Parts: sequence; C-alpha cells; structure tokens
Amino acid sequence: MPHAAVPHPATPARTAAAVAARATGLSKVYGHGETRVVALDSVDVEFGRARFTAIMGPSGSGKSTLMHCMAGLDSVTSGSARIGDVELATLGDKQLTRLRRDRIGFIFQAFNLLPTLTALENITLPMDIAGRRPDREWVGRVVETVGLSGRLKHRPAQLSGGQQQRVAVARALAAQPEIIFADEPTGNLDSRSGAEVLGFLRESVRAMGQTVVMVTHDPVAAAYADRVVFLADGRIVDELADPTADAVLDRMRRFETAGRTS
Ligand SMILES: Nc1ncnc2c1ncn2[C@@H]1O[C@H](COP(=O)(O)OP(=O)(O)OP(=O)(O)O)[C@@H](O)[C@H]1O
Ligand SMILES: [Mg+2]
Repeated sequence: MPHAAVPHPATPARTAAAVAARATGLSKVYGHGETRVVALDSVDVEFGRARFTAIMGPSGSGKSTLMHCMAGLDSVTSGSARIGDVELATLGDKQLTRLRRDRIGFIFQAFNLLPTLTALENITLPMDIAGRRPDREWVGRVVETVGLSGRLKHRPAQLSGGQQQRVAVARALAAQPEIIFADEPTGNLDSRSGAEVLGFLRESVRAMGQTVVMVTHDPVAAAYADRVVFLADGRIVDELADPTADAVLDRMRRFETAGRTS
C-alpha cells in the first residue's frame, strides 16, 4: 500500500529549528547544448537537526552535487538551498565564505588537506582561520577516535590514504559545526577504521546533537544513519527510516531491477 507517498494531514510542518538544512525545488544544470547535464532535478529534501542522514544512489546520480549545493560550495541553477533559515542564494561571496567557515564542516571525496601543514594543523585550521580557540579535550577525543594520535606531526604526503582521510574527518568534527556534509568519509578506510569513524559520527549525533549528512555506497555504513535518502538521475526516489544494512541492500536491489526493466 503506497501510504508513505500521501502527505499526512495530521503531521504538523516541522519547525525551522528542527531542520538544519533544506533543499526546495533544487535543480543544478551543468554545461550547455550537447554537454548539458541535469545533475539535480527539482530536489526537495530536509535534513533534521541532530540527525544522521545517509545519501545513496548510483555513480553520477547527483549525490556530490547535492552536498556541494547545500554547503554553498556550488551555486544552484534554480530552487533554493537553506542552512537553518538562511537562503544561500541571497548571500554575497564574503557572507557565504563566513557561513561555510562558521557553520559547516565538509569532508570531501578528495581530502583537500594543505600539504605544508601537519595533520594537527590541518585539523585545527578551520578554527584558526575563524579565530576560534579549539576545545582541546574534544579535539583530543576526535584525534584518538580516528586513530591519529601517533601521526599529528606528519604532513599529508607522509600519511597513507586512509590516514589522510581520517585527518579530513577529524578536521570536520573538531570544530563542532552546525552541520557536517561528508562525501564518502569511509571510502578509503579499512573496515575497522571505517567502523570507528562511523561509530564516532553516530555518537557525535546522539550525544552532542551534531547534524551529519553523509554520502555512501556502502549499506553497512548507511545503517549507522537514522535515515537513508536515495537519489537516482538527480531525483530523490525513495527513503528509509532506521535503516539496517539488509533493508538498504534490499532497496538498492529493487532499484537495479527497476532500472534494467525500464
Ligand atoms: N563540474 C561539472 N561539470 C559538468 N558536469 C558535472 C560537473 N560535476 C558533476 N557533473 C555531472 O553531474 C552528474 C552528477 O555528478 P555527481 O558528482 O553529483 O555524482 P555522484 O552521485 O556524486 O557520483 P559518484 O558516486 O560517482 O561520486 C554527473 O553526470 C556528472 O558528470
Ligand atoms: Mg560523488
């Protein structure tokens, strides 16, 4: 029975305070003419505050584009992207830079570490730029959890790929931003380090009220989230609350079958 698709009249609209970020009719088109790609096609989605949301979908379905638009790293073609109640399109470059710096943490698919800084300097860089004093105890806990205690004085080139990824994860968590966008944060980690990072992300949501939005291809990683949103061809096609790895896998198989028969 398709009851989930019918809006429930008794459900009150969620207040702005309960929503950390929101896309409304968000479209993103790259290129023109023959190279035109509709990366996002009128996406409506809300990311609840103090919630851990996973975004899944095939390669090229628009996951990274959605994260970049929501984090103010890329402009939208039409529709709206909001952080809290701030409409990103209304901000000038300086205001956007400040919002990203003060309110958003981003873990990229590529790590974007500064090669001349040590691991610790990379981790505290966003706070240094913002002129904020790092909470030493918290930074210590983050560093320990991602298993970097013995590597804090190393530069990125002296670290393995997985260690560099952990620096990027620690950098986003250390500043305790209003919302963290993570693009496959455990893609380069072995399963044990991956599980530690995911467990820590989940714990930061439950215990500290951190808001996390994470792209992943891995049903096991998605199962750490409170909710999974599925993208295909730039559209939200499904979602799942309180996911288990099996339920996610099952949903993914259904899309694959639908894709093959259409
Ligand atoms: N800067 C760009 N210029 C032109 N097209 C782009 C650009 N960035 C992304 N695209 C296109 O937009 C679509 C969505 O890309 P996106 O990177 O969001 O996919 P994704 O779901 O993150 O995929 P993956 O799982 O492989 O990371 C793709 O077809 C891609 O080729
Ligand atoms: Mg991507």
